[in-house]
Amino acid sequence: MDWGMKNRLSKIIKPKDGHTVMLAVDHGYFMGPTTGLEKLDQMVNPLIPYADVLMPTRGALRNYISPDTEIPICLRVSGGTSILNEKNLLHEGIIVSIEDAIRLNVSAVAFSILVGQPFERDTLLGFTQIIDDANRYNIPVLAVTAVGRGLGKDAKYLSLASRMAAELGASIVKTYFCPNFEKVVDTCPVPIVIAGGKKIPEKDAIQMAYDALQAGAIGVDMGRNIFQSSDPVSMIKAVNAVVHKKYSPKEAYDLFKSKKK
Ligand code: 5RP
Repeated sequence: MDWGMKNRLSKIIKPKDGHTVMLAVDHGYFMGPTTGLEKLDQMVNPLIPYADVLMPTRGALRNYISPDTEIPICLRVSGGTSILNEKNLLHEGIIVSIEDAIRLNVSAVAFSILVGQPFERDTLLGFTQIIDDANRYNIPVLAVTAVGRGLGKDAKYLSLASRMAAELGASIVKTYFCPNFEKVVDTCPVPIVIAGGKKIPEKDAIQMAYDALQAGAIGVDMGRNIFQSSDPVSMIKAVNAVVHKKYSPKEAYDLFKSKKK
């Protein structure tokens, strides 16, 4: 692996412990003004000190994030459908050129693939195109893996999607936590971070992060379970403590409650 790729990866995965807290705030690319992100800067700026990486769209970056920020950026580069087009949701292609990602000085790019839908081929070909583009400039690609409706979030399908993403060239895979998550981790040759998914109670989201780490995930790429929390700053501190400080779920939840105003 070349120096540039290693250097960028070290911005995403913290060398001190091999873990990462990624803050996903890219939802606007298909959900518009998502609850909690209506004024994205006001939500995100107080969270940045407790995140290792920020995952926005290019529009969010240019309009809401100060260019003097020190947080590494993992830029969302896939899209093409909105939440209103349920049948085709995640039928995504490349929405940002690699040149623009370079102009934005990103440390990684993120692309969603959807396995188990008739249009899976389109997302996989777009994904490999961005891998080739990104490889030319030593930019790591994070694959966001989803499986078709009806297949369920289970280890069988998520390990298939995660392994495919790695075999196609991803440097990091983002997938959902599920029962028997060890299987997903053990059969994927690149590091895995978990998505948060829809908002659930803070206690459960902290437990999920802990269980994922125990199963071998290197961290989280969490959005709604942080910024839709009743206290987003306390929540990201609690998740950070699980990921980087080996807090138990109880210790982290106590931390969340004690910080909550
Ligand atoms: C869609 C995504 C989201 O845009 C986002 O990153 C998910 O974060 P969360 O589920 O934690 O809110 O990846 O596929």
